[in-house]
Amino acid sequence: MSDPDATLSDLLHETRTFPPPPELAEHANVTAEAFETAERDRLAFWERAAERLSWTARWDRALDWELPFAHWFPGGRLNVAYNCVDRHIEAGHGDRVALHWEGEPGDTRVITYQDLYGQVCQAANALAELGVRAGDRVAIYLPMIPEVVVAMLACARIGAPHTVVFGGFSAEALRTRIQDCDAQVVITADGGYRRGAPSPLKANVDAAVADCPEVRHVLVVRRTGQDIDWHERDLWWHEVVDRQSREHSPDAFESDHPLFILYTSGTTGKPKGILHTTGGYLTFVAWTHWAVFDLKPERDVFWCTADVGWVTGHSYIVYGPLANGASSVMYEGTPDTPHKGRWWELVEKHRVSILYTAPTAIRTCMKWGAEIPAEFDLSSLRLLGTVGEPINPEAWMWYRENIGRGECPIVDTWWQTETGGILISPLPGVHTTKPGSAIRPLPGISAAIYNDEGQVLPRKDTAGYLVLTEPWPGMMRTIWGDDDRYREVYWSRYPDAYFAGDGAKWDTDGDIWLLGRVDDVMNISGHRISTIEVESALVSHPKVAEAAVVGAADPTTGQAIVAFVIPRGATRTGTDGEQFVRELRDHVTHEIGPIAKPKQILVVAELPKTRSGKIMRRLLRDVAANRELGDVTTLTDSSVMDLIKEKLPTAS
Ligand code: WTA
Repeated sequence: MSDPDATLSDLLHETRTFPPPPELAEHANVTAEAFETAERDRLAFWERAAERLSWTARWDRALDWELPFAHWFPGGRLNVAYNCVDRHIEAGHGDRVALHWEGEPGDTRVITYQDLYGQVCQAANALAELGVRAGDRVAIYLPMIPEVVVAMLACARIGAPHTVVFGGFSAEALRTRIQDCDAQVVITADGGYRRGAPSPLKANVDAAVADCPEVRHVLVVRRTGQDIDWHERDLWWHEVVDRQSREHSPDAFESDHPLFILYTSGTTGKPKGILHTTGGYLTFVAWTHWAVFDLKPERDVFWCTADVGWVTGHSYIVYGPLANGASSVMYEGTPDTPHKGRWWELVEKHRVSILYTAPTAIRTCMKWGAEIPAEFDLSSLRLLGTVGEPINPEAWMWYRENIGRGECPIVDTWWQTETGGILISPLPGVHTTKPGSAIRPLPGISAAIYNDEGQVLPRKDTAGYLVLTEPWPGMMRTIWGDDDRYREVYWSRYPDAYFAGDGAKWDTDGDIWLLGRVDDVMNISGHRISTIEVESALVSHPKVAEAAVVGAADPTTGQAIVAFVIPRGATRTGTDGEQFVRELRDHVTHEIGPIAKPKQILVVAELPKTRSGKIMRRLLRDVAANRELGDVTTLTDSSVMDLIKEKLPTAS
């Protein structure tokens, strides 16, 4: 959020409360007692959560903790894919639907746990045939089709950590990720459908791996049938995978074996490879999915609308729900294709009972109008969730009234790529909810709010920085290949706590309200993008000398990217018009992807700098938000701001 103060005062006026529905509370998976149990013995609490999984060897201890490196359940061994698939079949649930998949053009697939088993075994056998061994990295760049789940589980089955790259990222972004983790196999598709148009996934892979000689194979799923180039390293998925045996006996891996690397934006230009491992992560996503969504696997239909390319998809489309034996809906496309009621049509069709989505999607639906969901039967819904950014009370109320019939509890879940799973959320059978508040840390989670000096603030009407003071099973292990950066980013602001990078507040009841990022990370439609990443993309354009990027409040996407650009002297002519701005936006799309495309680009002659040469983003944020300028006395030249403001009317 660009203006925490404004947000704070809005939130302070929010007084509505919604107690849990009695029926839900009575049968809830988790009750208030869990807090007492976890309070008495936090590690024993997490050990009980780990016992919900199947291990081939029990752990010796719950935790080895050498700050900041946690090893959960050392000595324990397990296979993630076995836990997500095989054991449900052994328990007699092979006929249960794992995925109700819906393609954007209207094609569908129903995949039972038994079907999933056969497909995962085939893919695991295929990867082994291609020479992938435990510990080798596999990059996955696929649309939202069942093969992405199969590919992830196949990697997990053979102990090969995957790195899933969101299909909306550019070839350039894909290349840096493949290179950072030395992936030797890439799994992709010819394309995928988004708003009716096939995306050029394979072409992006071709461009990316042209600079990755170590990539031995590219395995290609045929999804769209579009024309693609073919190289010696390319193999069709259906030719290699479909002929494999549908049986595969999995090895058990140690609890701390790497499961996946997922790249996320930080405050520098280089994305961080967040490493999650096996036993702690799976314990945590399975438990939180079961607890926060009150999942009853035998009758719920769960739908998380995220893309698997983000952590929400990893934890709450793939690993959490499948570990719990849930039935999920998975949808390939956008909510407005072919019409703006597509999501609600799917809720009606599959009798979805739990829906998990992002505030930005809710605000988009608000804009389209309540009459659209009103046309569908949403009576199957019993619980709603949100994630990704602070939800404004208005959107929360709209969600409850228009999607939840004014009855469904809403769980506003706070967490991060780094945390692996949900840390702060109401428990639907326990807590009274409030529009805009994430309510409480889950049982077994030690969250605190610190002031600047690192003192713990009392849980009553205080605001500061959100930290975690004890390790939890889903926490990241490190940044891939960079333990120092891990220490520096998360454990140096305060020596004794994990620094989340979010501002937060305790209200007078002791409930938590998240106030947005406190660093240079923007949150665009729930996606993290760093200002510096976009700045680097802009300055890599030959006509750009300097760039500064800020996030401005946006009614739909939460924040929108606003860029200030100084053109290079020699090429300055012809850089004032719309054509140049278009060129720059295309360039950022090419470098990072469409999600990072600035909404507004202002071409300026100077940027406001302090005497030590630091760009004063605070002032640019004021300009972007059309606010009175804050203190300009530390600027080298305060007239710079007048020049910038003059530019405003010509904004794109
Ligand atoms: C923000 C997504 C307020 C926050 C799971 C965090 C939220 C960042 C919420 C992580 C929420 C996520 N309320 N803010 N319920 N959930 N955030 O890594 O700023 O993509 O630090 O993980 O999103 O984004 P990430």
